[in-house]
Amino acid sequence: MRHILEIDDLSSSELARVLDLAAAPDPARVLTGKGMALIFEKPSLRTRNSMEMAVVQLGGHPIYIAANELGLDTRESVEDVTNAMAGFHAAIGARVFEHSTVERMAALDRVPVVNLLSEQSHPMQALADLLTMRREFGELAGRTVAYVGDANNVARSLALGAGLAGMNFRMSTPPGFAFADADLDHIRSTGIEPEVFDRPEEAVGGADAVYTDTWTSMGQEEESEQRRRAFEGFTVDERLMGFAQVGAVFMHCLPAHRGEEATNDVLDGPRSRIWIQAANRMHAARGLLSWLINEAQQ
Ligand code: CP
Ligand code: NVA
Repeated sequence: MRHILEIDDLSSSELARVLDLAAAPDPARVLTGKGMALIFEKPSLRTRNSMEMAVVQLGGHPIYIAANELGLDTRESVEDVTNAMAGFHAAIGARVFEHSTVERMAALDRVPVVNLLSEQSHPMQALADLLTMRREFGELAGRTVAYVGDANNVARSLALGAGLAGMNFRMSTPPGFAFADADLDHIRSTGIEPEVFDRPEEAVGGADAVYTDTWTSMGQEEESEQRRRAFEGFTVDERLMGFAQVGAVFMHCLPAHRGEEATNDVLDGPRSRIWIQAANRMHAARGLLSWLINEAQQ
């Protein structure tokens, strides 16, 4: 049974197939009469709405479940919840504080499990990001995406996805907020060499897409003041965008903290693709579910 806990649970050719399915105008209704459980331990706008709409577009019925109503590992173990859910649903999606929670769900192999964001990865975001860049550039291979900011879940999945698609990945983070060596090795396993720079200007130099995310992820709120100081100089503004290719686009997974990781000029400017990117979450989710429910399990 296939599960999507990180984007490199897909091979390069499977990723290309998922992106093709995401772009298909009239998808087969592979979820007719079936449900998908969507469990959230953290807040969500885009992920919840895009997953629910993707399930509906495939003929299925999504059920949103706030994790505190389930009492994961307090009222009932993660394993018991998963086994019970598998009796009702064709797939389970979960947004979790600890990546090990989705790993425990997947380990039971009852129904496909999709990671809807953990502290480690955000594969559904990376799919939408690749879809957005593919629509922008046509061919992804050989293009360069530069990530400026925290080496977080979004950055990790983006880097892995870029690698699988044959893109170049450049990044710049403040000292103490970079990827660990194990993460860099993981990115290298996709076949690319991530390029790491001290200065954001160097990372952005010549990039086709400039990407940033919040400096304080969900679950890190107590560090926000310290992080705001540490990330000074890493704001994506018009000046920094000036180092990228002429015609480069700006991307952000959202929610944005306006004036921190990016300025309003950039977020709302002509290079910004943030709303297309957000809308592509639904198309990417539909493509992934089409593949996962139908093709992957055959
Ligand atoms: N980008 C993203 O995952 O947004 P939400 O947290 O609103 O789902
Ligand atoms: N890195 C952010 C992404 C939100 C979609 C977080 O984990 O909170």
